[in-house]
Amino acid sequence: MKIIHAKDYADMSRKAANIISARVILQPDCILGLATGTSPIGAYQQLIKWYEKGDVDFAQVRTYNLDEYRGLSHEDPQSYHYFMHENLFDHINIDPANVHVPDGSNPDAAEACATYDKLVAEAGFCDLQLLGIGRNGHIGFNEPDDAFSKGTHCVDLTESTIEANSRLFDNADDVPRQAYTMGVQTIMHARSILMIASGADKAQAVHDMCFGPVTPRVPASILQLHTNCVVVADEAALADCPE
Ligand code: GLP
Repeated sequence: MKIIHAKDYADMSRKAANIISARVILQPDCILGLATGTSPIGAYQQLIKWYEKGDVDFAQVRTYNLDEYRGLSHEDPQSYHYFMHENLFDHINIDPANVHVPDGSNPDAAEACATYDKLVAEAGFCDLQLLGIGRNGHIGFNEPDDAFSKGTHCVDLTESTIEANSRLFDNADDVPRQAYTMGVQTIMHARSILMIASGADKAQAVHDMCFGPVTPRVPASILQLHTNCVVVADEAALADCPE
């Protein structure tokens, strides 16, 4: 695990965008695993700027998102499908046929997850997986558990995640209680991983991810076992880590 120190959110975002754009330049038809949340928005904005300047071309890129709320349609402004279009896809030259997000509008969880799992596996898994981290150490929506998850599955969100994510909804009651998420094993199949973290509320999770025991109680700690994982975190998020 390589830890790159960033000054603040803006610096973290530029560094992350540099790593993503380098991958796209080196391998124009690469498969990117993408994430939602506040953490990647700055990196997406930077990538859009570089696309507009002609520095990076997404024409052949394929993307697979980590997760989606169960029960939200693609048009729902709170859905991750909508988020990805609003924050990235609608502003770059990616082929809409090449973007994939779990289908939260499919109420049949088993079918929705199996279909997505098959898609990711048939594509050959991700070349670069972008991740954020939940305050409790979750990745995607893989919450702390007794065992690491494998493929795409339906999860019950923890109260801490519902509370954390409620800032993006009118109130906590509107946050869906379940989500479809790529499993930890699927995430670990990515050939490289880019984890980004910003802010003091991530400091404990970042410490445990990088320096704690590898345990499903901190799902992100499994990244210590990945052979090509980079963590880009800002000063506040690294505050609990050794120098
Ligand atoms: C959500 C997403 C995760 C994300 C996490 C942190 O739960 N499912 O993929 O990493 O939130 O979000 P944020 O970046 O907003 O702190």
